[in-house]
Amino acid sequence: MHVSAAGLNDKEPNLSQSSQALCSETPLTARVNDALARSENLLKTLYEDHPNWVSAWADLHARVIAAKETRPIALKLRDEALSGTVPSALRPGRPAYCTYIDRFGGNIAGAVTHLDYLKSLNVGIVHPLPLLKPREGDSDGGFAVADYRDVDPRLGSLDDLSKFAEAVHDRDMALIIDMVCNHTAREHRWAQAMLAGDPYFADFYHVIQTSAEFESWEAHLQDVFPETAPGNFTFIPEAKGWVWTTFYPFQWDLNYANPRVFVEMLDCLLFLANIGVDGFRLDSTPFLWKQPGTACRNRPETHLIIQAMRILINAVAPQTILLAEAIESQEAVLPFFGVPEAPECDLAYNNSVMTALWGAIADQSTDLLAQTLNAAATKPDHGQWLNYVRCHDDIIWLALSDLASHDRLKGWSDFFAGKDSSFAKGMTFQAPPGFPASGCGMAASLCGGHNDPMMPQRLLLMYGVTYAQEGIPLLYMGDEIALENDYGFLDDPDRRDEIRWLHRPSMDWQKAEKRHDVQSTEAIIFKGLSEYARILNGLAFDVGQVVKPSSDPAILILRRPLVTGETFVCTANFSDKPRPVSITGRILTGQAHVPETNQIAPYGLIWTLEPATISPAP
Ligand code: GLC
Repeated sequence: MHVSAAGLNDKEPNLSQSSQALCSETPLTARVNDALARSENLLKTLYEDHPNWVSAWADLHARVIAAKETRPIALKLRDEALSGTVPSALRPGRPAYCTYIDRFGGNIAGAVTHLDYLKSLNVGIVHPLPLLKPREGDSDGGFAVADYRDVDPRLGSLDDLSKFAEAVHDRDMALIIDMVCNHTAREHRWAQAMLAGDPYFADFYHVIQTSAEFESWEAHLQDVFPETAPGNFTFIPEAKGWVWTTFYPFQWDLNYANPRVFVEMLDCLLFLANIGVDGFRLDSTPFLWKQPGTACRNRPETHLIIQAMRILINAVAPQTILLAEAIESQEAVLPFFGVPEAPECDLAYNNSVMTALWGAIADQSTDLLAQTLNAAATKPDHGQWLNYVRCHDDIIWLALSDLASHDRLKGWSDFFAGKDSSFAKGMTFQAPPGFPASGCGMAASLCGGHNDPMMPQRLLLMYGVTYAQEGIPLLYMGDEIALENDYGFLDDPDRRDEIRWLHRPSMDWQKAEKRHDVQSTEAIIFKGLSEYARILNGLAFDVGQVVKPSSDPAILILRRPLVTGETFVCTANFSDKPRPVSITGRILTGQAHVPETNQIAPYGLIWTLEPATISPAP
């Protein structure tokens, strides 16, 4: 499929009879009408009194219909084929794989050549980190987008992106890309038009005129990058005021109180959905709505915006997957799924469990992990957690501040920075004053690195518990071959203050070849993760998970019901010593179990299947 910048098909595929039928379908289907009516109600709550509302609504209406009409036939056929089924990309045991295109394959065309490697890991979702056109120079790893309708020219073109999506689909996988919806680069056309005095863009960003006003906002805000980008505002002389910049000074927060911002962002999402991507990681979702006198995070208005986005995207591209990037407390993240009558995102990062997972291996105690896992099970059935061990960002210990004491979190922060004879080889990253510094490092390094004989066991434990949970496991690039930290950023003056580059190495394809050498660490990890995926793939899970109390704090016992009435049980030892356990049922994986003594090895993991008659589903 060839795609022009306008998102239209220049060349249609050969049409079968059913596609002919779809072609002749009237564009204004009941689905679109219904979506427009429902979203109008929601958006009126936010915007009815805004002077731009009437024209913005008319504009939005026209753009949604245009997007529906111009959706390529091949994608409409795919929508039809997937309709009414759980997308196979979201089936149990199919991990999402997160990577940087340049670091994985050089460019998009290069990344395509490695898709079969991902298939061998049973990957269901491919998530390349930002690939849209960023600003020149420092772009916060691509999160300062200069054009949502173009691809980073170093990575390829829109046509390459479309071909990438096709290649992903050919392998029965789905493609999710980043949509940085909270802010644009200051170089973005909208920002430049605002500076140039274009009245349409006058109110696209938050420009604060007086220092008294910005100080009254600041009194309630927390810095995200207190060291490299202190404060939430940047004085921009051309704007004659302080522009809201939650992240870096070159990332300008959009003003969602202006309905035109919603219209333009939605239009970009529809444009990209029509290029062929299957979903969006909605970056920095908690920050969309600003309300005086509040921390300006997780506002109810933000949830209305996401609900309306969901409805309208679904009207055009019904199978679109939305992933919430909200690295907040569990209580604040859960609402990003929405409720069954008003769904928001299909997926959300399970950051509380991820953080508690690292805490458990540091403390050799699973109390907080058990608590967060049980709370995670309260999510609505229509949403799924994206369970992970590591990602491209830091581990934000403060996200657990409502559950763990400062001293405990500080202890973890120190532990993973390698203090006090800990096995971990990580570094710390900035956190707001009074909070423990966040953690950086590749999973293999945080688990001790290649010189530590226990590293493979620890890494397989962390991933084993992650794969075992209800939801989609996320594999962060290179973890499958235990790639370690990359200290190269320290020699680069533009990056050396951004410690997160420590865990953004280039994929080492030579090292990846070692996965065929059965004795190597790479093979042990790769085989272990493939095995987890294979086992889960063969099980028919029902909803729910529960962590059963264990008399030994180092032991985690996670149970999940199967539709057959059997129970899947994951028993994990977070201690560096063997521990007695009571294992019943059929062992699915877990050479770590020593049957003679009924012990589980240090950092051991055992998955079993208990028959319905012995242990009814929880
Ligand atoms: C998200 C990204 C992070 C980025 C920030 C600002 O949190 O994951 O890498 O720095 O948004 O866009």
